[in-house]
Formats: sequence, C-alpha cells, structure tokens
Amino acid sequence: MKVLVIGSGAREHAIAHALMRGGSVSEVTVAPGNPGMELDGIRTTQLNPSNHAALIDFVKNNGYDWVFVGPEVPLIEGIVDDFAAAGIKAFGPNKAAAQIEGSKDFAKQLMERHDIPTAKYQTFDDLERSTAYVREHGAPIVIKADGLAAGKGVIVATELEQAEEAVRECFGGTFGDAGNTVVIEEMLTGPECSLLAFTDGKTVRPMATSQDHKRALEGDLGPNTGGMGAYSPVPQIGQDVIDTAIETIVKPTVQAMADEGTPFTGILYAGLIATADGPKVIEFNARFGDPETEVVLPKLTSDLGAGINAILNDETPEFTWDEDNATLGVVLASDGYPTNVVKGAAIPEITVDDDSHVYYAGVARGEHGLVANSGRVLLV
Ligand code: AMP
Ligand code: GLY
Repeated sequence: MKVLVIGSGAREHAIAHALMRGGSVSEVTVAPGNPGMELDGIRTTQLNPSNHAALIDFVKNNGYDWVFVGPEVPLIEGIVDDFAAAGIKAFGPNKAAAQIEGSKDFAKQLMERHDIPTAKYQTFDDLERSTAYVREHGAPIVIKADGLAAGKGVIVATELEQAEEAVRECFGGTFGDAGNTVVIEEMLTGPECSLLAFTDGKTVRPMATSQDHKRALEGDLGPNTGGMGAYSPVPQIGQDVIDTAIETIVKPTVQAMADEGTPFTGILYAGLIATADGPKVIEFNARFGDPETEVVLPKLTSDLGAGINAILNDETPEFTWDEDNATLGVVLASDGYPTNVVKGAAIPEITVDDDSHVYYAGVARGEHGLVANSGRVLLV
C-alpha cells in the first residue's frame, strides 16, 4: 500500500515510521513533512495541509491508497470530508466529529447529555456574566477558550485576580476568535494521563496510557509548551482506573457521537484526571497527541497500516502492544522556546542504539546538514 500522511512534526514522523515498520505499507509520503524524516526513508512533498484541492490531486495522480491526517487544524477544517467527496479514504474524523476538539463547549455539552464524567462547567459569550460567575465561584477555577488555541487556551487560575484576568484576555482577543466563547469549569485534582484509542465509530481499541510534560524548564518550571517530552505507560494511575475510564468515558463518548449523528472515526484522545471520584475528562482531542504518539506508537507490535486499512474497509482491525516495556521521549528545543525562539542552530548527526529512535520536528536543510527551524526540533 501507498499512504500519504498529512503534517510535519515529530508526531507525523512517528506515524510514518510506524507505518513503514508494519510490512503492508511499502511507501509513505508526508505532506509537507520535514527533511529529518528522509533519514528514515520517508518521502516528503511540499504541499500545504490547508490546500485540500492540491492534496486531492496529489493523491489521485500518485496512486495513494489512503491518507492519514495528523494535526487537528485540517481535521477541523473538514479535510476528511473533502477527501471523501473526491472518493479518497482518509483516516480521521470528519468536520462534524472533529468538533469534539474544535469546540470545548461542544465536548462539554455532549458529556453533559450522556453523563460522561467531567468537571462542572458553564459556557459564556460575554465578559460581564463570566466575570460575575468567576467572582461567585472563586478560585481555584479553570478558564478555557472554546476554540483551538495551539495548546495555550487553558488557564488554571489559583487566585481570583488571575481568573478575572484570564477571562478579560479571552474576550480581549488574546486567543483570537477561539476566545469569543469561554468555558469556565471547576478545578479537578489528581494525576493526569492521556488515553488514546483507535475507533471505527462503533468499537474502541485503547492504547497504553501516556503523559506529556508541558513546562519548558527543569523541575517542572517555566511556561507551558507544546510538550517537552512524554512517557508511557503512566504507573501512578492503576489499570482499574484505566478500565473504568474506558467503560465510563471512551466507549460512551464514541457511542454518544454515533447516537447524535456525528460518528467519530480515527484516533480519540481523552485527556483524563484521576480524581478521588474516579477518572474525569479534561479535554478531548480528535487525533494523536504530540509528543504522546512518539512514546506510544513504538510499542505497537502489529502492523499499523493493516489495522487502519481494516478500519477504513469496515473490517475488524488487529492492534497488539508491547505491554512489558516503558518508553520515554525527550524533546530537543531551540534556545528561548516557547517565547523567543532562536532559529538556525546546527543539528549534529545523532546516533542512538537499537532501542531508541530520533523523530524530527522543526528542522530545515542547511548548508552542512540539518538546522533548527522552529521551537521543538526533535524528540529522542
Ligand atoms: P489542555 O490545553 O486542555 O490540555 O489543558 C492544559 C492543562 O490544564 C491540562 O493538562 C491540565 O493540567 C489543566 N486542566 C485543564 N482543565 C482542568 C481542570 N478542570 N482542572 C484541573 N486542571 C485542568
Ligand atoms: N500533548 C497534547 C496534545 O497533543 O494536545
């Protein structure tokens, strides 16, 4: 099979690498990808994920069997719908189903209607009423921009003043249109984990748990980032809690989406917090996490391409995992990340042992090899 992967980060490198390892996929191209992927024999093509028409032409003219969509933006923009209209199979939710990530209010309302455990909340679209709500409930409290905000739209406010400031920032345009609607919810406490699952819209195939590390600096200090590393599994959350989350959260969510006429196919990512009252949802994503994918997919012992191909053809997929070993991913970032990224550092050739792998993200081709081209450069 020939597969096109959409995206350019270490996540898409890990997806492409897993597809290549499986056996049934003979060729993987990533659009736009990055030059680091080519070190693994993965092809890249300079097509913009927002240019759906050009991607459709590319798939048709080059005989790709199907497409894997990595990032959330093209999913929320309806790339899967556009591929479907052109007769191309793409793995990922359509526009209607991707709302589970694209709108936090959509996700909260769905959970409320279907009794899926999550933080108590209220949604607002004006500053006055949200400020009054925050004052009434006090801190700690969590303020969330409704729409996509590149992982920055959540403020966990420990002081009332900070909460009021967060609400003002949202309505003041800090997060663009994403902040025109604001979800305010109770703060939950407990260990967190990401629980991802493959789903065909009816059944779910959960993966091992993982946890990403958001702060930029050593000792869990500094600003939040896209993720400085991750590990899998998450030993501080027991299998009984994970099993409860699968039964009370993952399966009911897939069922709810189907029941409401927005069936979800692809990777459902549940961000969970294991509270004293059991696991609850912090967020849903409509795709693989980054950097979680880089530590979860290396544990897949079955053929990723065959599994996805089965789902795309209404057959029963097989996914098997290495459950005995742990994985750890560490990000190499440019100086100044995430606030004042200094681009251009030379990336030396990295040699790792057979148990390790390098997944490239923000790299470009320089005169003498790869150079850093954005904040997160690679993950080992
Ligand atoms: P998100 O951008 O949705 O991944 O949220 C960023 C982080 O905010 C999460 O990883 C949690 O640590 C935290 N968070 C979000 N919602 C809550 C909540 N209701 N209670 C406590 N922490 C939260
Ligand atoms: N690591 C968090 C995310 O992918 O959204």
